[in-house]
Amino acid sequence: MRSLGAAALLLLAACSGSRGEGPAPERTTLPDEVKQTGTAFLQPETRALQEDDFANPGMLWVDRGRSLFRETIGQSKSCAACHGEDGSELDAAASHYPQVDEESGELVNLEGRINLCRTRHQGLEPLDYESDPLLALTTYVAHLSEGAPMSVDVSGAAAPYYEQGQDYFFTKRGQFNLACSQCHNEHWGEKLRGDTISQGHGNSFPAYRLEWQTLGSLHRRLSDCDAGVRAEPYPLGSDIYTAVELYLAKRAEGLPVETPGIRR
Ligand code: HEC
Ligand code: HEC
Repeated sequence: MRSLGAAALLLLAACSGSRGEGPAPERTTLPDEVKQTGTAFLQPETRALQEDDFANPGMLWVDRGRSLFRETIGQSKSCAACHGEDGSELDAAASHYPQVDEESGELVNLEGRINLCRTRHQGLEPLDYESDPLLALTTYVAHLSEGAPMSVDVSGAAAPYYEQGQDYFFTKRGQFNLACSQCHNEHWGEKLRGDTISQGHGNSFPAYRLEWQTLGSLHRRLSDCDAGVRAEPYPLGSDIYTAVELYLAKRAEGLPVETPGIRR
């Protein structure tokens, strides 16, 4: 395994020109034969932790989400009243998000979809992005889809969002002037600051990150990657990160949902 240390990162950045300059990176792809979930790049201990339901700290959020799912608040129906006591009606729903909400024409991820149910079907306020209850509900609903292959629709109304997410993926940014693709398409499998760079798939999120000492959304991970190249991250829950999420979901097509993942 080659090692990509901070020096190499600077070199990589230097080769790609100074800030905002230099040619746009080539639009490389990830062939199906090499496509692998991020779990495959974990240290054996971290992987074992993820795969043991009793030890995986992310399962606490699944349990919390299940309780919230069954909870009745005031006059409103519980999620379970509409979607089944064990979420049985939600089937593989998470594997098909983000998705365009027909009523508003907006792209929503699972968090957004859950908040639409709160406002439209429960008469409640939306939950704050990255709040514990929204993370818990999202983790619970995503865990219901565990093993389902990622499969999103990027045609029709979703197409412009997909394009936007794709453009983001191939745009150099930050002081290091690096695009997502330069790490996750071109340098996956190499070491960077103690991590092995994976292919950057979102199929294990929300995930418990040891560095965070808590569970977080995919947007929080994207924000960390942006900060890693010294770019100003966008707010969690922002439209642009949801568009990137759609691009990533299409790119991960066929990989199983593995929420809640454990990451370093
Ligand atoms: C300088 C290299 C670098 C750049 C540029 C970068 N990342 Fe990452 N990314 C990492 C590293 C290192 C990790 C943690 C290890 C890994 O890949 O899972 C990571 C993790 C991720 C993960 C979590 C994968 C998993 O299975 O846990 C996703 C998703 C991701 N990146 C997406 C992106 C996106 C989208 C961009 C562009 C906005 C981006 N990254 C830019 C280095 C980078
Ligand atoms: C009064 C019934 C009702 C309640 C209560 C409700 N939902 Fe929904 N939910 C729906 C309907 C109907 C849809 C289909 C989309 C639409 O028409 O809004 C839906 C769609 C969904 C979907 C997307 C399913 C898919 O296959 O795309 C998810 C996920 C979801 N709800 C989760 C929740 C959660 C979590 C709660 C509680 C916070 C909840 N819902 C509360 C009625 C409800």
